[in-house]
Amino acid sequence: MKNFQIQTEIFFGQGALDRLKNIPHRQVLLIADPFTVTSGLLNLVTAPLTAGGITYTLYSDIVPDPPIDNVIGGVKAALAVKAPCMIAVGGGSAIDTAKAIRKFATQLEEGYRPQLIAIPTTSGTGSEVTAFSVITDPTENRKYPLASEDMIPDEAILDEELVKSVPAAITADTGMDVLTHAIEAYVSTQNNEFSGAFAEKAVEICGQFLIRSYNDNTDSHARRKMHIAACLAGLAFNSASLGLNHGMAHQLGANFHIPHGRANSILLPYIIEYNSGISLFSRSKTNYPPCVRRYCNMARILGLNNLNETTTVRGLISYLQFLAKEMNVPLSVSEAVHITREEYESRIDAMADAALADACTATNPRIPQKEDIIHIYKSIF
Ligand SMILES: NC(=O)c1ccc[n+]([C@@H]2O[C@H](COP(=O)([O-])OP(=O)(O)OC[C@H]3O[C@@H](n4cnc5c(N)ncnc54)[C@H](O)[C@@H]3O)[C@@H](O)[C@H]2O)c1
Ligand SMILES: [Fe+2]
Repeated sequence: MKNFQIQTEIFFGQGALDRLKNIPHRQVLLIADPFTVTSGLLNLVTAPLTAGGITYTLYSDIVPDPPIDNVIGGVKAALAVKAPCMIAVGGGSAIDTAKAIRKFATQLEEGYRPQLIAIPTTSGTGSEVTAFSVITDPTENRKYPLASEDMIPDEAILDEELVKSVPAAITADTGMDVLTHAIEAYVSTQNNEFSGAFAEKAVEICGQFLIRSYNDNTDSHARRKMHIAACLAGLAFNSASLGLNHGMAHQLGANFHIPHGRANSILLPYIIEYNSGISLFSRSKTNYPPCVRRYCNMARILGLNNLNETTTVRGLISYLQFLAKEMNVPLSVSEAVHITREEYESRIDAMADAALADACTATNPRIPQKEDIIHIYKSIF
């Protein structure tokens, strides 16, 4: 038996932040990316709160790839004020931090269960609707995707005004994260008709609006569409989970701080080749693994219908590489970080173990062996 549930109430479109005037709380803990504080972006959130007569306390000790220490700091702040509502404002890092803060604060203080409202300021992770929170252990160079239903935010607010300040490079990285979520969820061993519908729509929107968003960050229509696509892809993988792409990307983030979406983008062509068994010089076959038909569906949604399965999957891979190139997203690790091949390869064995153990890898359509993962890590340098 399968089930599909959307636990988060989603407010979206122009003026969505006005929802904050009407939340049923008098006091909130704001957990915000420091950029939103220094840039003044947070005023778009605090203005409707103030208009609604709601007071707030701010916790903004958030960093990308959030380490456990920042979660502990937030738990202390949360238990000091015990606000009935937490509002997370920022990219995936801020929202993931807030989800973990609520989880641990609730466990430590019996009877305390604040509401969580997630307000993304990047169009990428979909964390505003998922049960995942990715926390980093810097001492071990590991990223841990924690997953539990009680981390899913109660409400999400998608307002494109908050993403207009996102610079082109972050638009590109986070947009590639959206595409990776949708494609991985679509071929996951847990894919289903509901997750598939969300993934297809997310990919359709990316095909039309990602480059437009990248080229002009004031393009409200494109920004709104990509903000919604990120959330749709989040709903898809919250149901179907992800795959080896994320399992391997987490290790590139933990070891080299390659931004999450960029790490996914570098891996994606190689993972599609690996899962489909279709390489640059493959001939057509009589039998393909089931994920090939699904990759072909995605290709068709992007307008890439081609002669047969082999050429259509190649078309999808070329399109993804073109998209990355068009948006100046590096195609290899050596383009993304200054590191020698020796330094990089000295980490591969540990990264491969971590990728095999990563919770996302379990739903990959092809069961990877450690040697396969090592081979892919070597190939992407
Ligand atoms: N929980 C999930 O389901 C899930 C899914 C995928 C990824 N993740 C995790 O999320 C994190 C990545 O999140 P992300 O890609 O949103 O990036 P991020 O939150 O790390 O932010 C990246 C950078 O963008 C800046 N930024 C954020 N909003 C901005 C804005 N409006 N204008 C200008 N700059 C802005 C931030 O200050 C930061 O410097 C990773 O840790 C990743 O592992 C979580
Ligand atoms: Fe992701």
